[in-house]
Amino acid sequence: MAFQRACALADLTPDRPLRVEVEGVDVAVVRHGEEVFAIEDECSHAAVALSEGDVEDCTIECWLHGSRFDLRTGKPTGLPATEPVPVLAVRLDGDDVLIDPDTTLGDN
Ligand code: FES
Repeated sequence: MAFQRACALADLTPDRPLRVEVEGVDVAVVRHGEEVFAIEDECSHAAVALSEGDVEDCTIECWLHGSRFDLRTGKPTGLPATEPVPVLAVRLDGDDVLIDPDTTLGDN
């Protein structure tokens, strides 16, 4: 699978997750500084959308029980979640944010 356009860079408010769907995969897209991250939009602890959580220090928080996931690796930084969430490959093409839903990064 190739990179697909997910949204425009201008659609992203810094450190505010945006939920998009790419090839049937729900993804939380986060602009953090000059970087853009894409993490699957489901907590590994229960079926809760991570895009509804807050972003801080390059992590996204699950609003239900408070686990935070590193946007670079998908690893939880605290309990109760213990499993990582897949982080997807992102590429910028001008003002377009492209995501490859089949390429996961980190330790996933
Ligand atoms: S559902 Fe996300 S930490 Fe429990």
